[in-house]
Amino acid sequence: MIRCQGLTKVFGSGPAATEALELSGRGVGRTEIQERTGVTLAVHDVSFDVRPGELFVVMGLSGSGKSTLVRLLNRLIEPSGGTIEIDGRALGGLDDAELRELRNRRMSMVFQHFALLPHRTVRQNAEYGLQIRGGAEADRREKGEWALEQVGLADRAEALPGELSGGMQQRVGLARALASDTDVLLMDEPYSALDPLIRRDMQALLLRLQRELNKTVVFITHDLNEAMLLGDRILLLKDGRLVQVGTGPEILAAPADDYVADFVADVDRTRVLTAADVIHQPRLTAHLDDNPADLLRRLGEAESTAAYVLDDEGRVLGVVHDDWLALAQATRTREITRESLTDDYLTTGADRPLIDILQQVGRHPVPLAVVDDERKLLGVVPRAAVLAALATPSRS
Ligand SMILES: Nc1ncnc2c1ncn2[C@@H]1O[C@H](COP(=O)(O)OP(=O)(O)OP(=O)(O)O)[C@@H](O)[C@H]1O
Ligand SMILES: [Mg+2]
Repeated sequence: MIRCQGLTKVFGSGPAATEALELSGRGVGRTEIQERTGVTLAVHDVSFDVRPGELFVVMGLSGSGKSTLVRLLNRLIEPSGGTIEIDGRALGGLDDAELRELRNRRMSMVFQHFALLPHRTVRQNAEYGLQIRGGAEADRREKGEWALEQVGLADRAEALPGELSGGMQQRVGLARALASDTDVLLMDEPYSALDPLIRRDMQALLLRLQRELNKTVVFITHDLNEAMLLGDRILLLKDGRLVQVGTGPEILAAPADDYVADFVADVDRTRVLTAADVIHQPRLTAHLDDNPADLLRRLGEAESTAAYVLDDEGRVLGVVHDDWLALAQATRTREITRESLTDDYLTTGADRPLIDILQQVGRHPVPLAVVDDERKLLGVVPRAAVLAALATPSRS
């Protein structure tokens, strides 16, 4: 959807800018470049792709170049070097009309400080993007109303922004972006000014909307926990340079350098990692037509006392225990009966965060089962895998 290659922005021009780029190419840091040339290297040689429908987070400390990066993406500013493609079209090659079209119909922005028009109602603010485009009033109305419903503000349509809380105002900003019905949302620290509780609501709202509406979102934040919570993938910027791109769990498992390692040390892993990150192949599974004596022997070899019994589709039917198998062997029972199965196990979905499953891990003779919507067994979560994942990796 979006492809950036070697994206660079120097604030400054002439020989000083050229010198700054040259210094940066040799690995000289931003502060020294600033001292020697007097120009700011805001973004240097940043390359990444954003996939359609992805929630892509750009994370970095203040001054790391995040806002510069989003401004480059919708060409509010021109790059000093590198290229940006949107859907395979070079952004640099667009003429004014095409650029307007891009900003009106392909990308919308949501800002930290809401950028609402204070003397217009919530409804008018939500419709504002469409109004600029010059759409028909009925259509505007319909889309505005739909967008306000999406963000839970349909009943405040006639209020003025000043009458709303910060969180609600940010919802209006989001509604405006949704009403414009663009594929891409660019969000520059939209939640930084909000209280923690409101912020959590807004994060949940964004995750839900992004899933339902399948938007491509570039979300800027300086909060790593927020980045980890929201991002399908995260790009870490430091002093204008890309330090690492990856999923939250990837970055936690293998920080690119000491800087990232320091950064992620404080992240609450139990909220970032999910069952999918600690899933294992079960050592052993059984079927109803398995021979009990046979299965008992395999259980012994696997040093287990119980096993999941699956149907032909791989769905979990229950758990068979070694004591029943021993009895079945003694009485020469040929098959495992349904009545012999216990429900002495727990299941979880693959996307559950560890915080939700910690209490369930290791409480049964069989490890926690990870199942899909049809209860098919995807794998299991052994207790040791969870403990290992929660331990901070040692610095290399
Ligand atoms: N228009 C400008 N002219 C000169 N320097 C600029 C300009 N805009 C940004 N900068 C500088 O570029 C660097 C990156 O700024 P940018 O605003 O992109 O950072 P940021 O990551 O968004 O920071 P914050 O978290 O504070 O919003 C900073 O050193 C900043 O001072
Ligand atoms: Mg910024």
